[in-house]
Amino acid sequence: MPRSDTTHARPPWLFKEYSPVGVDLGSPAAVAVYDRNQGTDPDADDALLDRLGVAQDTLLIDLACGTGSLVVQAARRGAHAHGVDISEQMLAFAQARAERADVTAYWHRAGFLDYAHAARPADVVTTRSALHQLPDFWKQQALLNAAATLRPGGTFYLRDAIVSFPPAEAAEQVQRWIDTAGRPAGEGFTKADFEMHVREEFSTYAWIVEGMLDRAGLDTVSRTLPSATHAEFLCRRR
Ligand SMILES: C[S@@+](CC[C@H](N)C(=O)[O-])C[C@H]1O[C@@H](n2cnc3c(N)ncnc32)[C@H](O)[C@@H]1O
Repeated sequence: MPRSDTTHARPPWLFKEYSPVGVDLGSPAAVAVYDRNQGTDPDADDALLDRLGVAQDTLLIDLACGTGSLVVQAARRGAHAHGVDISEQMLAFAQARAERADVTAYWHRAGFLDYAHAARPADVVTTRSALHQLPDFWKQQALLNAAATLRPGGTFYLRDAIVSFPPAEAAEQVQRWIDTAGRPAGEGFTKADFEMHVREEFSTYAWIVEGMLDRAGLDTVSRTLPSATHAEFLCRRR
C-alpha cells in the first residue's frame, strides 16, 4: 500500500520527534544493519500476536514500527495492520517486507506525538523498543495519543528498555547491562551502542511509566520485568 502522512497539526512548541537521538538509522544500509542487530523473528512476532488476540479483521497499529515485522505478520493473518514511523528509510524497508510477503499493510509517516488515526478505532496498539526516544513529559503525551486511537476495552502493549532497579544502584546496574548486552562489532548492538542509549536517550523507571499509563486512561492488566532494564506492559483502554 502507498505510504501516507497522517498527522495532526504541529504547534511550534512540539517536541522535535523527527530528529531522534541515538543510533543513526538515516540510510538504507543503516536500516538493514538495524534489522539484523534487532534479531527480527517472525515466530516471536506471531507468539505476541497470539497473546494479543490478533486475528482476521483486528485493527492493529504498531507505533514506531521500524522495519515492520510485527505489522507484516499481523497482515498475514488477515488483520488490518498499520505501521507508523517517523523514518522514511524504515518505512521503505517495511513496505518492501510486506511486498515480499504479498500482504496488504498500511504505512504512515508520522510520530508518536502527531499521528492522527483516520480509520476506525484500533483494537490493538503496540509499541516496542521506541518510547524511550521521548523525554518523560512527551512520553505522557505519546501515551495519550496512543490511547486516543484505541476503542474502549482495546489492548495496548508496550515493551521497551524501562528500568526497575533501585535508583541508588543505577551506576552499577547500568554498567552491568552494558557489559552483558554489548556484542562485538558486526554481531549485534555493541557496548558503545548501549552506552549511547543510556547517555543520550530517555529510558526511565517502570514506576514512572505505570503512572503515565494510568493517566493516559490505560489500565495495566499485566506487567512483566524480564530484567532490571526491560519491562513489558499489557493494558486495556478504560
Ligand atoms: C529501535 S527502533 C524499534 C523498531 C521496532 N518497533 C522494533 O521493535 O524493531 C526505534 C524506531 O522508532 C522510530 N521512532 C523514533 N522516534 C519516533 C517517534 N517519535 N515516533 C515514531 N517513531 C519513532 C525510529 O524511526 C525507529 O524505527
